[in-house]
Amino acid sequence: MDADFPVGMLDSIRDVLAGNAARESGLDVYDDVFNSALAFPLQRQKELAWVMRQSRSIAPRVVMEIGVDKSGGLIHWTKCLPTVETVIACDIRGTPYSSLFEAAFSDVQFLWLERSSHSPEAVASVRDFLVNRKIDCLFIDGDTLAIAKDFDAYFPFMNHTGVVFVHDIKDHAPNVAFRQLADRGYRHERFVDTSDAEAELALEAKGIPPATPHAAWLRHWRGESCGVGALWMDGTETIAVPPQEDLDGGDSG
Ligand SMILES: C[S@@+](CC[C@H](N)C(=O)[O-])C[C@H]1O[C@@H](n2cnc3c(N)ncnc32)[C@H](O)[C@@H]1O
Repeated sequence: MDADFPVGMLDSIRDVLAGNAARESGLDVYDDVFNSALAFPLQRQKELAWVMRQSRSIAPRVVMEIGVDKSGGLIHWTKCLPTVETVIACDIRGTPYSSLFEAAFSDVQFLWLERSSHSPEAVASVRDFLVNRKIDCLFIDGDTLAIAKDFDAYFPFMNHTGVVFVHDIKDHAPNVAFRQLADRGYRHERFVDTSDAEAELALEAKGIPPATPHAAWLRHWRGESCGVGALWMDGTETIAVPPQEDLDGGDSG
């Protein structure tokens, strides 16, 4: 499991959530989030922008992120896509910023899942919360060793016009999982762009310090921990899904 959330994270999130006016602007990324001290997404700007553009093309109403961490991606899901009415946010370490989001986005209905995404309790909570609604966009970025388990757990709730994103597909385990899911027959696309890391490493080689914590994070990963794949449901109504009792309830994060 990841370390505890850093001290000061809630102040950082409060700062970037100040004011909800930008929600209608249709931006793909928010620089103030990426430049924030502690609320920046553990993603690349270009890949997150790609995800937002793909998502906007289906005017999603219900989105779910597994592994919301410090909420940098979650802020984008909520602010960049004005059609979104419902957000499901899951992280095994908790979501201590839930009340900040609910205050900032009073027109959005949230479900906060502070447990393992593939626990039967999490799956049951999503089922009971959605009733007849379906998930339009599912972003899987939690336990990198259990991506297919997450996919199978939430596939029954996916809209047949929806899309499932898998993050970190440049890394071995997510790449294998994404390819195995794609081999089931879904139309799929990949987006991998490490140009931001290369630019940061060039600055590092010149002895220039990172301008932001996100820039430091890019340098740390040196072009790894990135890439995103999309699996389009394209009308798929059913697929072989393991019975719920096969889904474990433990902490595998
Ligand atoms: C790489 S971070 C996600 C970054 C985030 N999506 C973003 O855009 O900034 C991975 C997160 O997944 C969470 N996690 C790991 N295993 C999990 C599980 N089984 N269920 C839910 N969350 C999990 C971790 O606590 C961590 O916060």
